[in-house]
Amino acid sequence: MSKPQVLVARAVFPEAVARLSEHFEVETNDSDELWPKAELIRRLQGKVGVFTTGSERIDAELLDACPQLRICANMAVGFNNFDVDAMTARGVLGTNAPDVLTETTADFGFALLMATARRITESELFLRAGQWTKWSFDMFAGAEVHGSTLGILGMGRIGQGIARRGAHGFGMKVVYHNRSRLSPELEADCKARYVAKDELLRTADHLVLVLPYTPANHHSIGADELAQMKPTATLVNIARGGIVDDAALAQALKERRIAAAGLDVFEGEPRVHPDLLSVPNVVLTPHIASATIATRRAMADLAVDNLIAFLTTGQPRTPVNPQVLGRMRGQ
Ligand code: DGY
Repeated sequence: MSKPQVLVARAVFPEAVARLSEHFEVETNDSDELWPKAELIRRLQGKVGVFTTGSERIDAELLDACPQLRICANMAVGFNNFDVDAMTARGVLGTNAPDVLTETTADFGFALLMATARRITESELFLRAGQWTKWSFDMFAGAEVHGSTLGILGMGRIGQGIARRGAHGFGMKVVYHNRSRLSPELEADCKARYVAKDELLRTADHLVLVLPYTPANHHSIGADELAQMKPTATLVNIARGGIVDDAALAQALKERRIAAAGLDVFEGEPRVHPDLLSVPNVVLTPHIASATIATRRAMADLAVDNLIAFLTTGQPRTPVNPQVLGRMRGQ
């Protein structure tokens, strides 16, 4: 009997493909091109599962054109590339890759905060350009990190990891805002105080964004919010492009209405708003917050586990729309 077919939509660790090949006939994307939608649809014909990375948009049009598809397994914790309602309506399961990247991503969030507050990129570029001729008392003087107020917008697992690093490692006062408040135990563990969004914006010396992208979160930080922040504040976005209005941020940075920003994600990435490229007080990285080899392997393994488990036993590890499973079991 021939094996079910799955598509791996982007290049990934060969070991992940090898594990899939034990169960499925696997088509891969060795060139790692981001296929246009029509090409993705063409390649998905006859496939029951697809391994996605967060860059591939799975929407109603694609699902209608690929009626055999039963599962889309994201190698990412975020799944804003999925139209979850369209998937659920068609009985297609989505899975993501939570937990395995939490600490690594929190490490990176903190690294970006430090680099931004202490002007690492700006000063390195200055040095590399041969402009460093003498020590000066205020050369690249940045903002204090230890003992300052760390604000976190979005207090899921990654936000909590950043809070712990700030509170326990750097003696920071931590304030946060989230859709729902943490339990008293978690608040104590993170040494974090729940505040309204306005207070968060007004009081944070360093504001880190870690909330998931949803249409409701679009431009959660725009000109009005930036205007409420301290002129000495830094803003760090490791969440998703679209949560910040990048044009408004570039303008605020240019006019020094906030001191600096550290950005790992961008609206319409991999394009970056040209004004962000021309302001000096911003640290820019290409969506690498979870990028260590060990973590990326763990993320790929979890996506593979989900494909194998769902297609062989019907029991995926981390479904995002478990209603589909209930319906399959007649619940
Ligand atoms: C995620 O997991 O959502 C990251 O943004 C992708 O590395």
